[in-house]
Amino acid sequence: MDTDLLEETANFLVGPGRGILAADESNGTMSKRLEGVGVASSPESRNAYRANLFAMPTMSEAISGVILYDETIRQQAVDGTSIPDYLHARNVLPGIKVDTGAKPLAGHENETVTEGLDGLRERCAEYFSMGARFAKWRAVIKIGNGLPSDACISTNAHALARYAAICQEQGLVPIIEPEVLMEGNHDAARCYDVTVDALSATWDECKIQGVYLPGVLLKPNMVLPGKDHSTRIDVETCARMTVDLLHEHVPHEIPGIVFLSGGQTEVEATAHLNMMNNMGPHPFELSYSYGRALQATTLKTWADNQNDLSKSHSVFAHRCKMAHLARFGKWSEDLEA
Ligand code: 13P
Repeated sequence: MDTDLLEETANFLVGPGRGILAADESNGTMSKRLEGVGVASSPESRNAYRANLFAMPTMSEAISGVILYDETIRQQAVDGTSIPDYLHARNVLPGIKVDTGAKPLAGHENETVTEGLDGLRERCAEYFSMGARFAKWRAVIKIGNGLPSDACISTNAHALARYAAICQEQGLVPIIEPEVLMEGNHDAARCYDVTVDALSATWDECKIQGVYLPGVLLKPNMVLPGKDHSTRIDVETCARMTVDLLHEHVPHEIPGIVFLSGGQTEVEATAHLNMMNNMGPHPFELSYSYGRALQATTLKTWADNQNDLSKSHSVFAHRCKMAHLARFGKWSEDLEA
């Protein structure tokens, strides 16, 4: 294992004012997103949308890495070069989603285990040779009546740790993502407890598998009530609960936390990160690996203005700038106007 390379990559990804753009939607998910804004989904339209995103002139001020999907890492940028080469040339590291999706967990209705370990070593080696320097694997944990089960927590933690060990052997920094979903009517305290259980099980498995923690990034959910819960919490409470949880339940050797947005609006995800960065010092960088919270308005704007790409670029530039400011705790709501 090349621990120097892993540490260098992980620290680069959470460098000052920068974070990760999650553009690794599977073809199924991306098709839904495109159809949602009235665009037919095809390899060409997915390529056109993403290549335009990556060509935004100031992207690298806020984006250190982009997570790609298998289709995208093989596609071309606006100048005809390969997307991974194009990103490297812009001082942005390409990453790759390597799980093959959340599949039904045997004997546990409504729960899933994320698959993709078979052949993972060979796929990681190929992606590394194509320029990828980090990877992502997302485990899905649902809160509900009697959920999550111990089986869901432990199978997903085990898979995350085996994935992380294989990635590191192949020179890729693993993003470990145990996502506790916002779906449901649980309160924030329940989200806190389940997140603790998922993280604790994951670190236990990482220890068994010999995962090198200074060469890992964690991609967690923030602590929030379920979408259907009657009481919302304010920005400060979410930030305080999330920061307390991370300080106590994440090994301090990890260089950075890169949050998912998980269905929060663009402004909510930015406000929460901003508040957390105002509550420092922290033992690790607090950054982003947002999908929807960086792309939602940009995708809509692109769909409506495909003959004037400067419109979607200016919307994406704004979102990037807001995320960049939140890394320093310097964002404020009036900047959204
Ligand atoms: P969201 O920020 O839209 O939740 O996506 C992040 C991600 O990559 C989920 O795996």
